[in-house]
Amino acid sequence: MKVKVLIADKFPELYINQLKEMELEVDYQPKLGEKDLPEAAKEADILVVRSTIVNSETIKSSKKLNLIIRAGAGVNNIEIPSANQKGIYVANCPGMNSIAVAELAIGLMISLDRRIPDNVIDFRNGKWNKGEYSKAEGLFGKTLGIIGVGNIGKEVAKRALALGMNVYGKDISRIEGVMIKDFSEMSQLLPLCDVVTIHLPATKETKGLFNKEMFGYMKPNSLLINTARADIIDQDALIEAVKTKNIRVAMDVFKGEPEEKTAEIKSPLQELKNVYITHHIGASTEQAQNAVAAETIRIIKDFTTSGVIAHWVNRAKIADAHYQLVVKHFDKPGVLASIMSIIRDKNINIEEIENVIFDGGVVACCTMKLKTPVTTDMIKQMHDNPNVLSVSHVAV
Ligand code: 3PG
Repeated sequence: MKVKVLIADKFPELYINQLKEMELEVDYQPKLGEKDLPEAAKEADILVVRSTIVNSETIKSSKKLNLIIRAGAGVNNIEIPSANQKGIYVANCPGMNSIAVAELAIGLMISLDRRIPDNVIDFRNGKWNKGEYSKAEGLFGKTLGIIGVGNIGKEVAKRALALGMNVYGKDISRIEGVMIKDFSEMSQLLPLCDVVTIHLPATKETKGLFNKEMFGYMKPNSLLINTARADIIDQDALIEAVKTKNIRVAMDVFKGEPEEKTAEIKSPLQELKNVYITHHIGASTEQAQNAVAAETIRIIKDFTTSGVIAHWVNRAKIADAHYQLVVKHFDKPGVLASIMSIIRDKNINIEEIENVIFDGGVVACCTMKLKTPVTTDMIKQMHDNPNVLSVSHVAV
């Protein structure tokens, strides 16, 4: 039976055809929404989504689901705890749309400085106002604070340096090859910035990060860009900062963003002339969508041909398996079972295990991550098996 791939969001045709050539059953339904997915994904083995919400009902009612791919970076639209309970892999396509998001962030900065959207609206309304729109300060020599210096933040940094801005970053541990200065405390960084741009994922830790306190650190009249996730900003605190400190804001995301591609919207942000909102289009360039689609195909190909999951996001980060046992052995039936039974008899849990074979198929090497150490006596018992070549045991 063919592996069934359900694509529940818009996906470039070229890449759908590539999937079909891979002997997969491809079900392309770009108009599906959160409510349709539980029924639509019931028989799927692989589910591909962009921002369509994959809720716990979809995961619980699926019969065969094995892999969910987020054709994009953020995975906050997927109910990962439910996927963990059913052993369903979740993968994403990090970095593939970073340049597109960075380009939008820079575009929004320039738009705020020059008030480009207001210029255009006035022109369309038959108003000429060169005097009013000639008051921009310019970005050259201004200080930019990048909050979250991952794939996207790094691309923003390169472009902002080319504009002649002083670029400071929060979280320099994730940046290579870009000369920017790290400020570990927001209270140090924000008061220096003329422009702040947010490039963080939506997590428990980042929810509401930009609250009253953070806006308190920001300079009056500074610019704030958010092309990441709405949840990172406390909307009430933002509205207050816009009104009281003249913080000017441009965001590609907002609280209450519709899941559908077209919808009516109602938000208190519509009332604020110093707030520009775009339609969550950061990743929506043809270049970025093609790169994301190509990566999605690669993930599906790797998974269906070798079982390897690229960009597997719900793999446990094992923090408490402090011992590693490596057994080299002849690749024969029963050898591993004999090692395992020695470990089982002492009630030691194996957290992770990998068995790989040397070229020629004579010798194999099994690596195990353990929570508790094995004893010298157990190692001796392992050596007693004539098919075991070596045993090494180290604390990691
Ligand atoms: C992402 O997380 O990759 C972006 O937010 C893009 O989302 P989209 O694919 O729904 O436009």
